[in-house]
Amino acid sequence: MGDDARRNVIMTAAIAGLGGLLFGYDTGIIASAMLFIRSDLGLSSFEQGLVVAAVPVGAAFGALLAGPLSDKRGRRLVIIVSAFVFIAGALVSAAADSVAVLTISRIVIGVAIGFASATAPVYISEVAPPEIRGRLVTMFQLAVTIGILVAYVVGLAFEPNGEWRWMLGLGALPALLLAGGMIKMPRSPRWLLMTGQDYEARAVLAKIRGPNQHEIDVEVDEIKAQVGEEPGRWSELGTPLMRAALTVGLGLAILQQVTGINTVIYYAPTIVEYTGIDSASSAILASIGVGIVNVGMTVVALRLLDRAGRRPLLLIGVAGMTFSLFTLGLAFELGDEDTVTSVVAIGSLMLFVASFAISLGPIFWLLNSEIYPLRTRSKAAALGTFTNWIFNFAVSLTFLLLIDALGQSGAFWLYAAIGGVTFVFCQRLVPETKDKHLEEIEAEFARRAGVAA
Ligand code: BGC
Repeated sequence: MGDDARRNVIMTAAIAGLGGLLFGYDTGIIASAMLFIRSDLGLSSFEQGLVVAAVPVGAAFGALLAGPLSDKRGRRLVIIVSAFVFIAGALVSAAADSVAVLTISRIVIGVAIGFASATAPVYISEVAPPEIRGRLVTMFQLAVTIGILVAYVVGLAFEPNGEWRWMLGLGALPALLLAGGMIKMPRSPRWLLMTGQDYEARAVLAKIRGPNQHEIDVEVDEIKAQVGEEPGRWSELGTPLMRAALTVGLGLAILQQVTGINTVIYYAPTIVEYTGIDSASSAILASIGVGIVNVGMTVVALRLLDRAGRRPLLLIGVAGMTFSLFTLGLAFELGDEDTVTSVVAIGSLMLFVASFAISLGPIFWLLNSEIYPLRTRSKAAALGTFTNWIFNFAVSLTFLLLIDALGQSGAFWLYAAIGGVTFVFCQRLVPETKDKHLEEIEAEFARRAGVAA
C-alpha cells in the first residue's frame, strides 16, 4: 500500500469518525445545560427526565432505521444525512421555548446520533485495510471521548451566565464538519460491490489501496465470494452463523453499558461529592480529569489494538474495570469522609475510566463493525447499536435508584460482579480479529456454528 493510498484511507476514517463527536458532545453537555433549562423553562422532574431520555431512545430507534437504510442508499449517504438531521435538531433545541419543542428536537438529535453510531464504524471498517482496521475504527471512539471532554469545557465556559442555548446550539458545529467532510469522501467499496457497482468499487479501491491491479483483483474476488445478489433480510439474522456472531456482538453491546461507564461519565461530580469533598470546583475538576483520562487512554488503545490484538487489551481492561469498581465500593464501605477515602475513590474512578478506554470502549464498536458478514452487516451492527443505546438508557435511569436500594458500596460492588461476568464472557467467546480480513472473520463464526461460510 503506497503512501498516498494510506493517507487517503486514514483521512476517510478520520472524517467518518467525526460521527462520534455528535454522540460524545451530547452525552457530555446535557447535564450542564439541564441545570439552567429546568429553571428557565420551569421543568418538573418528570419533564427533565423526558428531555434527557429523548436522545438515547431516539438513538436506539435511529440505529435500527440506519441498518436497512445504509444497505439501500449506502453508508456514506446515511452519515451525511445524520449530520444534517443533527444540525436541525441542535438549532431547534437551542431555540426551544417549551418542553414539547425541546423534547421533539432532542428525539431528532437522538435519531441523528443513532444513524451516525450505527453507520460510521461500519463504513470505516469497510474502507480499512485489515492491518490498521483497529486503529481506524477506534477513531470513532476517540471522537466520542473528545466530544465528551469538549462538552465539559464548553459547559464550564457558559455556566457563569447560564447560557444553555449556546451549549446546545454549538453541537451543530461538529456536525457541520462531519457533513462538509463526508461529502468529499468515497462510498464504501464493499457496499458498492454488494450493489453491483463493480466499476465504482474498483475506482475507490485504487484510491484507498493504491494502483496495484492484482491486489485490487484479490480483494474484489474475496468480497464477491461472500456477497449474494443483494443485502440480506432481517430474518437472516436468525441463521446459526449469525446467532454465533450476534451472541458476541449483542453480549458486548450490553456488557459495555451494564458495567457502569455512564454512571461515571454522567455522575462523576456526584460520586466525588459522596466521598465528602463538597467544593463544586473539585467536583468539576473530577469531570475534566475523567474526560482527559478517557481521551488519553483511547489514544493508547488506538496505538495498541492492531499490535497487541483485541483480546489482550479487552481482558486486561475488563480486569482493571472490575478491580477498580471493587475498590470504589470498598472506599465507600470502609472510609469515613477523610482524605484516604477520597484519594482511593478518585483513584478508582480514574483507573476505571482508563481501563474502559483501552477495552470495552473502543472494542465494542470495533467488533460490532467487523464480526458480521457483509450481507447482513449493517442490520446486525444496527441491532448491536440499538441494544447498546437501550442499555445506556436503562443504566442511567437506574443508577440513583440502585444507590438508594443498595447503598453506594453495594451499587459499585454489583457493577464489579457484572465486571467479573464480563471477563468470563470475553475470555470464552470473543475471537481475535487482528490482521484478519472481514471475510476470514466470517469463516471463524461459520466454524463455530458448524456451517460452511
Ligand atoms: C459508550 C458510551 C460512553 C462512552 C464513554 C462509548 O463507547 O458507548 O456509552 O459514554 O464510550 O467514552
